[in-house]
Amino acid sequence: ALAVTKALAAELRAECDTLVVLGIGGSALGTKALLGAVEPTRRVVVADNVDPWTFGKLLDGLDLTRTVFNVISKSGETAETMAQFLIVRDLLLRQLGAVDYAKHIVITTDSDAGALRQIVHDEGFRALEVPAGVGGRFSVLTAVGLFPAAFAGMRIDDLLAGAAWMDSRCLDAKLWRNPAHLLGALLYLADTRHQQNVVVMMPYSDRLHPFASWFAPLWAESLGKAETVDGAPAHVGQTPLTAVGATDQHSLLQLFAEGPVDKVVMMLRLEDHGRELPIPAAYADLDSLGYLGGAGLGQLLNREQHATELALVQQQRPVITLSLPQLNPFTLGQLFYLFEVATVFAAALYHVNPFDQPGVHASYRLTYGQMGRSGFETERAAVEAWVARKRSEY
Ligand code: PA5
Repeated sequence: ALAVTKALAAELRAECDTLVVLGIGGSALGTKALLGAVEPTRRVVVADNVDPWTFGKLLDGLDLTRTVFNVISKSGETAETMAQFLIVRDLLLRQLGAVDYAKHIVITTDSDAGALRQIVHDEGFRALEVPAGVGGRFSVLTAVGLFPAAFAGMRIDDLLAGAAWMDSRCLDAKLWRNPAHLLGALLYLADTRHQQNVVVMMPYSDRLHPFASWFAPLWAESLGKAETVDGAPAHVGQTPLTAVGATDQHSLLQLFAEGPVDKVVMMLRLEDHGRELPIPAAYADLDSLGYLGGAGLGQLLNREQHATELALVQQQRPVITLSLPQLNPFTLGQLFYLFEVATVFAAALYHVNPFDQPGVHASYRLTYGQMGRSGFETERAAVEAWVARKRSEY
């Protein structure tokens, strides 16, 4: 599968300048994290919402003859992604014609099931597989994330090598030497023993901010469950929140430091930001500026991380800091894998299934009903009654 993914990416790099990912949730956020972290050499855009303003503007600005769309959906029926697909397919058909349009679509979906797989068979689109048993939020190291990453020019072998290296560390049976088990256990205990039911992921790096957005659904959808695996009532889960240092020191930090004692702040620190910007020395006579001269911007950022960590600890607020020597595909692969294993380990401690998300289905069904999908007439009536009730009450 890896060879197929690489070959297709290489072929399309020769034909196209831009790859647009159409997907949502786990089918999009891993790619956003990859693109945010490592400088792409080819343009990849992730369209992960159905806001007509942003999606319309994106489409308006594309040269379709040099663009390929990667439709990603494990289930092959997610309403948002299917709607985007229908719009794009129609546009390509009208602008490029019935012979060429199919060359501009690559579908990543389940190998057997779902409407998209059926469409691949019927229309002959090029396709990649989401491996059986791998759900969206755990799929970044499959074709879901690897194909856009390879198109972007990323060294995906290094990414996988990083994940494999972390895997070897996560096999250690001793909790203290197993980083994923230790992390999962610490967060689980913080939540269940100390009522720290919010985990804030706060990278001190803009390049890792999308990684925090990838982590949020991993933690939320995997652990937020009504029932244990035995069917007993559970209603467990720790709420993930994303923040970025130093920006959110001027936004959320006040709450973290003095608000309810219900949070663990998990900082990601980059020892080497990959570049440094020296701060010129000037205004030596002004105490509030003069001290900055001669330092670097990355140095300031990292010192702020130490300062904020200590300030929170002084307020008796728990902080976990993960330090990366550098941000590159190898360390990023480690990070993805670490959090995936930590999540599965925490799920075992909570005694819940990390791989399903039954709580989101009601919303999907009510959307299908309103959009007129057959079989969802009861849901349509329920929404109509709800909207009428709101209108009559206000
Ligand atoms: O992690 C998950 O399973 C979800 O976030 C899904 O990725 C998201 O709902 C999109 O699903 P699909 O890939 O089936 O379109």
